[in-house]
Amino acid sequence: MKKTVKDIDVKGKKIICRCDFNVPMQDGEITDDNRITAALPTIKYMVEQGAAVILMSHMGRPKGEPNPKYTLAPVAKRLTELLGKEVIFAQSDVVVDDKVRAAAAKLKAGQVMLLENLRFRAEEEKNDPAFAKDLASLAEIYVNDAFGTAHRAHASTAGIADYLPAVSGFLIEKELKFLGDALNEPVRPFVAILGGSKVSDKIAVINSLLEKADTIIIGGGMSYTFFAARGWNVGNSLCERDKLDVAKEIEEKAKAKGVKFLTAVDIKVADKFGPDATKFMYVDADKMPDGWEGQDIGPKTREIYAEEIANAGTVFWNGPMGVFEYYEFAGGTKAVADAIVKSNAVSIIGGGDSASAAKQFRIEDEITHISTGGGASLEFLEGKALPGVEALQDK
Ligand code: 3PG
Repeated sequence: MKKTVKDIDVKGKKIICRCDFNVPMQDGEITDDNRITAALPTIKYMVEQGAAVILMSHMGRPKGEPNPKYTLAPVAKRLTELLGKEVIFAQSDVVVDDKVRAAAAKLKAGQVMLLENLRFRAEEEKNDPAFAKDLASLAEIYVNDAFGTAHRAHASTAGIADYLPAVSGFLIEKELKFLGDALNEPVRPFVAILGGSKVSDKIAVINSLLEKADTIIIGGGMSYTFFAARGWNVGNSLCERDKLDVAKEIEEKAKAKGVKFLTAVDIKVADKFGPDATKFMYVDADKMPDGWEGQDIGPKTREIYAEEIANAGTVFWNGPMGVFEYYEFAGGTKAVADAIVKSNAVSIIGGGDSASAAKQFRIEDEITHISTGGGASLEFLEGKALPGVEALQDK
């Protein structure tokens, strides 16, 4: 167990807090502020305790150089609206300079300041000790609440903990509780739904879930690698030919362990991918015709999956069932989302595409926990240590 902000005295202290404000943007506007709202409980607590709060985050991948496209200025604005108090934006192309140091030194109890995108400095991703020390020098306590970036060993997520007392915020605490406890001691049956395009991205997580889950449901582009491994025709569908052995092994392992392993029995195929498709039809999964491309799970599969979900005690979902961004191929993913909402199961959604799908279908409020970490939640479930968590003090 890691110490949290509640386990130490933060009253009147100067705190530097790492958040994951890496939010999707379009034309300078934030299109989804979930990661910002998820950080509010920790920020509000620190403010209420009379701490002076310096927030920091990365945004996108600006490759170690300042780039106005990736400025955190819109985040400072949104935080100001959400907190109902001014969040001072410490604009600087080098993140920390004399002006920023002076502003941090002057910051009073209850005030909040946000640094510029940490990845404007190459030292951030290199976990450079001098940069970590420079960040640490702005405050007396370090709080990490950036679960989405906890799988990165960077200056602001790992290195900085060498120089300050380091504890977690409430978001990291909550994520670890749901992805850890809820999935390690699940209410059974535990149904894990895995989608997405590549088996290669999910091998480790499937292997780890084979140890915990009662049923594994497969959907999305990676289905076709499993089909091809069984010797089925997959037409023009996405398929990782070099992973057929891996797919076979996974199925054999599931069988040996008595884990129910479900793949689609029917598929919605199209003449072309996603938005370019003009012709569609439903086919049996083992009878895919040449020249067609699988885009979504079909109606028979949706029913089978929904029934499995209806009887679940715990559901973990990561990855869409089809090309859900396009109306024509959203039906399978929507059916799974609806089934999760209808069931009484503890429901946990890994970040990334399934979190976007939950937003698209407006079911977020009906889910027990939606992780703010895509890569981080997968690495955690794979059993890997997260450097951003490891660096924090134990209770
Ligand atoms: C994410 O969006 O997964 C996190 O913010 C981490 O971003 P990264 O993959 O660029 O390190």
